[in-house]
Amino acid sequence: MNRFFIAPSIIAADFTRLAEEITACQTAGADWLHLDVMDGHFVPTITIGPLFVEACKRAATLPLDVHLMISNPDSYLEVFAKAGAANITVHVETCPNLLQTIQKIKSLGCRAGVTLNPLTPASALDAALPLVDLVLVMSVTPGYSGQAFMPEMIGKVQEIRNKLNALRSNAHLEVDGGISAETLPLMLHAGTNVFVAGSAIFKHPGGTAAGIKLLRECPLR
Ligand code: DX5
Ligand code: ZN
Repeated sequence: MNRFFIAPSIIAADFTRLAEEITACQTAGADWLHLDVMDGHFVPTITIGPLFVEACKRAATLPLDVHLMISNPDSYLEVFAKAGAANITVHVETCPNLLQTIQKIKSLGCRAGVTLNPLTPASALDAALPLVDLVLVMSVTPGYSGQAFMPEMIGKVQEIRNKLNALRSNAHLEVDGGISAETLPLMLHAGTNVFVAGSAIFKHPGGTAAGIKLLRECPLR
């Protein structure tokens, strides 16, 4: 089995202990830190912005995986790159000129990611696939941590994995929403190599490290 990446979703962490939570993730073997930026417009919730990303950058050594759930992301790419994003992922639903957006993210020195809501078909990414460094499949409707995994998204991951293979692409295939010890193996088998998890890590009764350990080991059980 290939090693897969784990990207804890920081909005599920205890913000009063942000640096401590980040250190716990790093010590427990997380690979990226996933930062969910929501604007109250593209999604109903408002979460964090560039100042928070910058604070994480100061506290972290791991790459910051920034997921922009905002309208008009083109206006904010530079500010998030400056704040310390290693990866910037935009929603196809928010980008009228997706190929230009991808080029812009790359020109800022970041990995360029694209994502899509559960109801958006995988074909919406076709033109972008040869250019991207990362594809993120949403397995919940974006907006909140702690929602139930949508099993219909297993087929979407398989479809995108097949397309990436046909292109001989090395892009990461990441999944976000409802990932747990039960759902991770299903998505791993479908072709995912990066797993975002909020509740499964930060709300684990044994603590953050125990949450990461469980996800790391669940495919072997
Ligand atoms: C959903 C966010 C996710 C979410 C994941 O809108 O993009 O990153 O916080 O949280 P869990 O793992 O609890 O579903
Ligand atoms: Zn996310």
